[in-house]
Amino acid sequence: NQDCYILAVETSCDETSAAVIKNGTEVLSNLIASQIETHKAFGGVVPEVASRKHVESITLMLEEAVNQAGISLEQLSAVAVTEGPGLVGALLVGIMAAKSLAFALDKPLIGTHHIAGHIYANRLVGEIQYPCLALVVSGGHTELVLMQREGSFDLIGRTRDDAVGEAYDKVARALGFPYPGGPHVDKLALSSEVSEELPRAWLEPDSYDFSFSGLKSAVLNAVNQHKMRGEDGYQAAIARGFQESVIDVVVEKAIRAVKSTGAVQLLLCGGVAANRGLRGALSERCEKESIPLSIPPLAYCTDNAAMIGAAAYLKWKHGEFSGMELKAEPSLSL
Ligand code: KG4
Ligand code: ZN
Repeated sequence: NQDCYILAVETSCDETSAAVIKNGTEVLSNLIASQIETHKAFGGVVPEVASRKHVESITLMLEEAVNQAGISLEQLSAVAVTEGPGLVGALLVGIMAAKSLAFALDKPLIGTHHIAGHIYANRLVGEIQYPCLALVVSGGHTELVLMQREGSFDLIGRTRDDAVGEAYDKVARALGFPYPGGPHVDKLALSSEVSEELPRAWLEPDSYDFSFSGLKSAVLNAVNQHKMRGEDGYQAAIARGFQESVIDVVVEKAIRAVKSTGAVQLLLCGGVAANRGLRGALSERCEKESIPLSIPPLAYCTDNAAMIGAAAYLKWKHGEFSGMELKAEPSLSL
């Protein structure tokens, strides 16, 4: 009964991350090199630039993750890597690094789904109870995933246009914040006493799908009108109105889905799970409804390799390894 040490790599977007996870839940190291400062100048992630930055830092990140974990390369049980979804060039850098290392060390390689990683970040908090419902809110995804058991993913709702994080970033930009704007909007919204009324997209009464493009357009219109009237100081009320609209819909649909599916636990995950307004509102509502809720600590909400290690451990347990033909899958489904 030997201990399992997984070296995990995540390079699907603009963070180069490497981590070592012991026995699936113990984070021995979790290093994240953010490229935000580089992409800020462009107002968003430039795929080609992201790939280059990953190439520059990946080797050092892997070395440091193993060093900080205090283990030797020989002790590794497997090397795990995000295979998709994400930016193809960015994914490729992580995959090539993981493959090379696995090959050189003669260790198993484990390709991991990015969203499974976000969901299983909750395993770093505690045991997951099944059936459960995962509310995935990130820069690229907004989904309600029903999990009847470990490893089973049933998509019962998804966004029909923008992902929540994407809407946050676009609204932030209209309010004058740099990329990524989610945290800025969150802070401004919580600081505001007043709220501008904005629409909510409920869609069909029984739908678990989401839509944020109408809300985003409403924000852009509101900003333009304030500007045309020569007003200022309107940003906070818009931020709060926007955040309230997002939270209302997301929380309501998640709770309704938990009730109708018989899920015994709700898991929040993805970059927008770092949103203080959402964390607070969802916690409050779950407490009122007596629904057990799990939310990862902030460091495991936005992209990181620890969550990839947590997800890969479940595959390792079952001997589900990938071959050297592992490919980057930009639009891999769960
Ligand atoms: O999961 P993630 O790191 O990357 C993807 O897989 O997409 O999510 C990044 C997204 C960005 O859109 C960022 O603005 C958003 O998460 N985000 C937030 C907050 N922190 C990060 N959105 C709202 N409030 C926050 N506090
Ligand atoms: Zn992500």
